Amino acid sequence: ASTAATSVSISGSISSQLHGGYSHPLARQWQAERQLTKSMLIYPLFITDNPDEETLIPSLPGQKRLGINKLVPLLTPLIAKGLKSVILFGVPLAPTAKDALGTAADDPLGPVISGLRLLRRAFPQLFLVADVCLCEYTSHGHCGILHDDGSLNNTLSVDRISDVALAYAEAGAHCVAPSDMNDGRIRAIKLKLIESGIAHRVVLMSYSAKFSGCLYGPFRDAAGSVPSFGDRRCYQLPPGGRGLARRAIKRDIEEGADIIMVKPASQYLDIISDAKDIGKDLPVAAYQVSGEFAMIHAAAKAGVFDLKTMAFESTEGILRAGASIVVSYFTPEFLEWLDTGI
Ligand code: PBG
Ligand code: ZN
Repeated sequence: ASTAATSVSISGSISSQLHGGYSHPLARQWQAERQLTKSMLIYPLFITDNPDEETLIPSLPGQKRLGINKLVPLLTPLIAKGLKSVILFGVPLAPTAKDALGTAADDPLGPVISGLRLLRRAFPQLFLVADVCLCEYTSHGHCGILHDDGSLNNTLSVDRISDVALAYAEAGAHCVAPSDMNDGRIRAIKLKLIESGIAHRVVLMSYSAKFSGCLYGPFRDAAGSVPSFGDRRCYQLPPGGRGLARRAIKRDIEEGADIIMVKPASQYLDIISDAKDIGKDLPVAAYQVSGEFAMIHAAAKAGVFDLKTMAFESTEGILRAGASIVVSYFTPEFLEWLDTGI
């Protein structure tokens, strides 16, 4: 007996049939080039000079300014859940802490250096990134030392910022991450690390493509780093400046950056993709900044979407664009969510 061949009739071509490829949850995961894992996440910490401080930052939901004595209690449970890395920001609150040169940035008793020493001892496996900038320490709130006319003095700023980076590396930072945007700071930092004989144990992560705009507001509340006059548009990149970002990325790679960062993240996915294209041989990091985080929280609170769903959707978009490292205020939540499943 002969069986008639099953006849298939579809309206389009065979290649139009896609649903089968992502019908199962696992098959859906396989569609992504990069899956979010705990080791991709860096959690920002705001460390103050008041040792017992623990203050919620109103514009940055759930995030706190912490004194040095509060770090171990906060981090112990997070490390148990798989936290691998933090980035430290210093927040000097003492009224005398700020001056025109940002002298307090590398104060050996200041929050960042004492934080690095403490965390190296308490959590030897935790990867410590130190943000390097002067804006938290300058009386004028700008990211460097200024000329009399209020513009950045690039030479003095680079000299100072590279000293600060070296001090953080010597205090135990595994990675220094200059966010100031002065020209030539990557080369200056790399040279000082080499001269000091520690270049081989320090990752240099450049905030290469850092755009100016309104998404850093909650951070500046948290860090007390709102400029007292003017804005940062003459050193942070203009939002439309894709070519400029590409030039900055190429420049920083040539100057010795080990990792390239793009910031903010979701508004600049094309830049993340450019960074991955230009820096094929480097990891690309993206910073989902305070304004992005606050915006997602505000929209979730207003009922626009579910918080967790958008936390994943936004982060997966950042990974899809090309990042393999994400600085995220959602890190503590992700450590939970990645265990319980999406
Ligand atoms: C310091 C610095 C800033 C951020 C990271 N490093 C603030 C700024 O440039 O004004 C922003 C991070 C965030 O908004 O979450 N230069
Ligand atoms: Zn700054």
